[in-house]
Amino acid sequence: MTQLQINEVAPRDGFQIEATFVPTADKIRLIDALSATGLARIEATSFVSPKAIPNLRDAAEVVSGIQRRDDVGITVLVPNVKGLERALECRVDEVNLVMSASDSHGQANLRMTSEQSLEQFAAIVEVLRGDPRGRNVFVNASLSTSFGCPFEGEVPEARVLELVERQLALGVQGVTLCDTTGMANPAQVARLCEAAQARFPGIPFTLHFHNTRGMGLANALAAWQAGIVRFDASLGGLGGCPYAPGATGNVCTEDLVHMFEQMGVSTGVDLDALLAASAMLPALVGHDTPGQVVKAGKADRRYSMPAR
Ligand code: COA
Ligand code: ZN
Repeated sequence: MTQLQINEVAPRDGFQIEATFVPTADKIRLIDALSATGLARIEATSFVSPKAIPNLRDAAEVVSGIQRRDDVGITVLVPNVKGLERALECRVDEVNLVMSASDSHGQANLRMTSEQSLEQFAAIVEVLRGDPRGRNVFVNASLSTSFGCPFEGEVPEARVLELVERQLALGVQGVTLCDTTGMANPAQVARLCEAAQARFPGIPFTLHFHNTRGMGLANALAAWQAGIVRFDASLGGLGGCPYAPGATGNVCTEDLVHMFEQMGVSTGVDLDALLAASAMLPALVGHDTPGQVVKAGKADRRYSMPAR
């Protein structure tokens, strides 16, 4: 059975929405701890406007300060050419370009329609491939609101697939289908995952779920049953887009790893080390996290019988 690849997004999707700025040294300490857990990739930060996302204004210091390992890819979110140029100053393994499947979320989040985002994508890929520092960098694209938009509602599957096709035509190598505000349900997830893989065989698709309506793990399971092996997830279940009303945390990494490992599906992740990293979070963000296994313990936890 294929091992899953987990992309940890707490340092980006998680910290971007927190009420307070997580100090740079703490971000680096957390990413270094995460790097030692067996995760395939870590989305370390965003090279976006510091006015749009003040919490990630230290992107360059974070990427330059973390310990690098050959077995952990470092990816960063990039919305435009300026973000790419900043990312190229640091050594990154992957850039995660971002756009929305719905124009209203694209306008709210990035001030771009999908057409304008695709133009940015073309410019980004051109600059990246023309720069010696960028020739081997993997280009992934995240498609926000692929399962529904908080402003427009339903986003037709045909539109999502057409945008994927246009991204791939521009030189994008992998695509993340994002459920930005937890609107997806397992039947819809199965349909879109099957359609995307059938239409674009060999393209690595990643699924990105938010647990806003409690469907995150069910959606991940449905995606896996449809053949998906790459997942975004956020330590402690932190996360959310500040420009999507009602957004809350991602599917929780340790809960996702626990579920799959309990099912006998290998994730390559050392769950105990991941739980130890998750236990660092309340001190970093100043509040409890939605993660469940970090509180309940793993399913093999046993209690003493109560004394009579
Ligand atoms: N990194 C740093 N600064 C950037 C930048 C980047 N990638 N892109 C633009 N800027 C700066 C510009 O230099 C300019 O600065 P100035 O006001 O000091 O001159 C300012 O931001 C506005 O630039 P402009 O190109 O007009 O951007 P905009 O205001 O239309 O905003 C984005 C577009 C994409 C930069 C902005 O909406 C953004 O960063 N959004 C990210 C949102 C996000 O991360 N959401 C969550 C993840 S999905
Ligand atoms: Zn997200």
